[in-house]
Amino acid sequence: MEQVLYRKYRPQSFADVVGQDHAVRILSNALAMNRIAHAYLFSGPRGTGKTSVARIFARAVNCEKGGCNTCATCEEFLSGRALDCVEMDAASNRGVDEVRAIREAVLLAPFKAKYKVYIVDEAHMLTKEAWNAFLKTMEEPPKHAIFILATTEPDKVPETIQSRSQHLRFRLADEATLVRVLVDAAKKEGMALEPDAAEMLALFAEGSFRDALNLLGQAQALGGKTITASVLEDFFGAPSKTALTEVASALALRDAKHAIECAGQVFAKGSDPRLFLKLLIHQFRAQFLDALRSGRVEKDAANPFSTKELETILRILLETATERHYSGWRELPVELALHRIVREVSL
Ligand SMILES: Nc1ncnc2c1ncn2[C@@H]1O[C@H](COP(=O)(O)OP(=O)(O)O)[C@@H](O)[C@H]1O
Ligand SMILES: [Mg+2]
Ligand SMILES: [Zn+2]
Repeated sequence: MEQVLYRKYRPQSFADVVGQDHAVRILSNALAMNRIAHAYLFSGPRGTGKTSVARIFARAVNCEKGGCNTCATCEEFLSGRALDCVEMDAASNRGVDEVRAIREAVLLAPFKAKYKVYIVDEAHMLTKEAWNAFLKTMEEPPKHAIFILATTEPDKVPETIQSRSQHLRFRLADEATLVRVLVDAAKKEGMALEPDAAEMLALFAEGSFRDALNLLGQAQALGGKTITASVLEDFFGAPSKTALTEVASALALRDAKHAIECAGQVFAKGSDPRLFLKLLIHQFRAQFLDALRSGRVEKDAANPFSTKELETILRILLETATERHYSGWRELPVELALHRIVREVSL
């Protein structure tokens, strides 16, 4: 079976990991100085590299060459069959039994490798009893054991565990970073991903590397060699750039009626109002950041809004995007926002 893109492009060495410099630096230094902690807590949103880095680290501590990915040890770890690397998904194995089994097994020497590495995914899902069992191990960890607890919710990890582990935070990727990763993967796949299209996928992915690559996979499944923004607009039911530009122009002319009509046409085609809002925010944010970068404060011929006005517009759109949307009134919040912009940013 064809491998899904996010698995195919899983980082296999520290150098492949994008945007997590802090975590990578700490782990590389620990390896270089041979000061490896017995327990690590990897926290951060899903799809930011926690599992990937845990596996890289598991190989790095055991490989003679620090994770060459070619020696027998690395190959065994890469195959997922290494007995000295145990991955447990706490979301499906919440039980105290699994942890108890780990507790007993951890005392025995590794089968082949230098270290036994236990990777516990979704660690926050463990039950209280399971944590207690873990704690007993972590209080006196054998020299050969390393625990890596990965979680999206570090606050739910008991204080006693937190204080015994080194906490590394994984961060969401910014759009430019995701664009880079997408363009890179597209190239390897022999796809032509147009810049507009890459930007759109990055926006939809909301900071998750995994989501970005999954979306690219969906775009690839559409079959075309060239992925354009308009192909994606059709596929995701996103408002077209032309429509967004027209709404922005109407706002520039302080024409609330026309702005709302344009938005209405977009919704009539089946676009989701929240997606519309998101893309509108994206567009105005780009203008805002651009104004800051160039030091422009006032409006001019090419820029119909002053920096202060852009700030007001973004505030209104952001407020609308974060407020609750009642299912019966999906379009109204956008319409009100457009009207309010014209009211508050008068000519
Ligand atoms: N920091 C990153 N750099 C490059 N790719 C990444 C990164 N984080 C995640 N990915 C991509 O997303 C996929 C899932 O990542 P994973 O490590 O399982 O994330 P997590 O465990 O944080 O949910 C990886 O296989 C890879 O394709
Ligand atoms: Mg994971
Ligand atoms: Zn190796």
